[in-house]
Amino acid sequence: MERIGRILDLARWAPSGDNTQPWRFEIVSDTHIVVHGSDTRLTVVYDLRGHASQLAIGVLLEYLSIAASGWNLRCDIVYRQPSGNGDDPHPTFDVRFEDDPSLPTDPLFPCLKTRSVNRNPLGTHPLTPVEKDTLSGLLGPRFSGYRVRWIEGWSRKAELARILQRCGKLRLTIPEAYRVHRQVIAWRSRFSEDRIPDRALGLSPVILPLMEWIMGRWERVRFFNRFLGGTLIPRLQLDILPALFCSAHFVLLAPLPPRSPDAFVEAGRVLARFWLGVTKLGLQFQPETTPLIFRAYHKEGIPFSGNPEAPATARKIAGSLDLLLPDGEMDRAVFLGRVGRGKPPSARSLRLPLDRLRVDG
Ligand SMILES: Cc1cc2nc3c(=O)[nH]c(=O)nc-3n(C[C@H](O)[C@H](O)[C@H](O)COP(=O)(O)O)c2cc1C
Repeated sequence: MERIGRILDLARWAPSGDNTQPWRFEIVSDTHIVVHGSDTRLTVVYDLRGHASQLAIGVLLEYLSIAASGWNLRCDIVYRQPSGNGDDPHPTFDVRFEDDPSLPTDPLFPCLKTRSVNRNPLGTHPLTPVEKDTLSGLLGPRFSGYRVRWIEGWSRKAELARILQRCGKLRLTIPEAYRVHRQVIAWRSRFSEDRIPDRALGLSPVILPLMEWIMGRWERVRFFNRFLGGTLIPRLQLDILPALFCSAHFVLLAPLPPRSPDAFVEAGRVLARFWLGVTKLGLQFQPETTPLIFRAYHKEGIPFSGNPEAPATARKIAGSLDLLLPDGEMDRAVFLGRVGRGKPPSARSLRLPLDRLRVDG
């Protein structure tokens, strides 16, 4: 049982959108656990159909598998596929561990805990061909058909900066996102077990107190947005500067446009290897998922906000994003982010302790 505890203690460092940690662990025996996933689609506008949570659960499963390799244990993971329409708000997985003395420790093992998000502007020195090959190599061969597309050079980065600042404006002006941000930001902190500390947001410490005060009430947010250009500084710091100051942005493509929860879970496993690989190369990483999410709302014609301007903004985001890749490739996109050189962040999300993540059967 001790081994399982240590494996779970490492695996819980898997990243999740807004640090929601949408999983609980049931320890059945010393060779079998059940991962009970859930999603936040009913409360989080960024979790369209639970896809963000499903990606995170996939990352967690890959984390489990990499952690287990450190004890020469092979993981056999089986999805308890629900009957019905395939939509599954509670994806559940049986994970069985099997001794295999010939199994080497996964080379990504040392990065499980050190991998993190860096939302600050980063160095702009381009990625080398060796770095790119190393990262592309991590997408296969176990998960075949995944590809990475790089968005590099000042003009392409500027185009993405334009898209991201549009997303930023949307995020800062729709009440649905406001409700999420109120829940997930831990103000005046560098570390948080179940949220994102404000110091890790990428905003300068000088404006954080003002942001905290504004975010205290939706009426203040609306007033600042309407009369004082309230979104300007946050958009500059959260979206525009980080988008320009990085080595490259990347789009992860699945073999086919993902639709089902298990397709997103599998994409999450690929994402885990890619993100850990970036860490192993000593590079910094930040997800930039909102363009894909607002694009999906637009493409699927799903209303997502009471703000009447939101659908038109999502349409513009989708249109500009599609122009970044040829031949409709954006339909296969599962993740968007940026990488660059820099120091690791001094503030980061922590995780709930293992005893709070454990459930009984
Ligand atoms: C599916 C997914 C989507 C995410 N989307 C974003 C995003 O759009 N922007 C961002 O800055 N961070 C994003 N994150 C990063 C999480 O907020 C972060 O991983 C979490 O707070 C834990 O922090 P850590 O990765 O530093 O341990 C995302 C993470 C995951 C797994």
